[in-house]
Amino acid sequence: MIKHAIRILLCLGAAGFLFACNKPDPNHLSWKERRAASLAAQQAKEKGVPAVAKAPEPVKKSPQELFAERCQVCHRLKGRGGEAGPDLTGISRRANSDYVASVVCDPDTHFPGTGMPSFAGQFTDQELHDLAEYVCGVK
Ligand code: HEC
Repeated sequence: MIKHAIRILLCLGAAGFLFACNKPDPNHLSWKERRAASLAAQQAKEKGVPAVAKAPEPVKKSPQELFAERCQVCHRLKGRGGEAGPDLTGISRRANSDYVASVVCDPDTHFPGTGMPSFAGQFTDQELHDLAEYVCGVK
């Protein structure tokens, strides 16, 4: 009778032990997964790369492309373009690239109410500089 009771107790104990060991753990990673993750973090650190991938750099556009996309609809240059704004061919005979850049960023100050949209903040300093130089370079 006592032997029987002990056996039952042992069985219960074993069952309890197994149950405790099998508790699902949502954060559980196998040792392989944990090792791979820590290796990747380590490698990223050594290379000085942040573990999270950076967004790719935007493709840099040439001043010609920028002019074609943003300005040509209203301005002619070398005989091509729209008529809403003045022909910019040869503008360097009466103005410089600082003036062009200034008009691009603040057309309302130069030409209030004419409908040229402001491009303030839409180009990087470099793009604006190159675009203005390009426009002035067309004689
Ligand atoms: C929606 C049409 C439109 C777009 C797009 C536009 N412009 Fe203009 N632009 C104008 C108008 C209108 C004027 C004012 C003309 C006036 O009243 O003499 C003007 C004036 C200018 C002037 C002064 C010209 C002068 O003779 O003094 C420059 C320079 C200029 N725009 C450059 C640009 C550049 C560069 C872009 C592209 C980034 C651009 N514009 C986009 C319509 C536009």
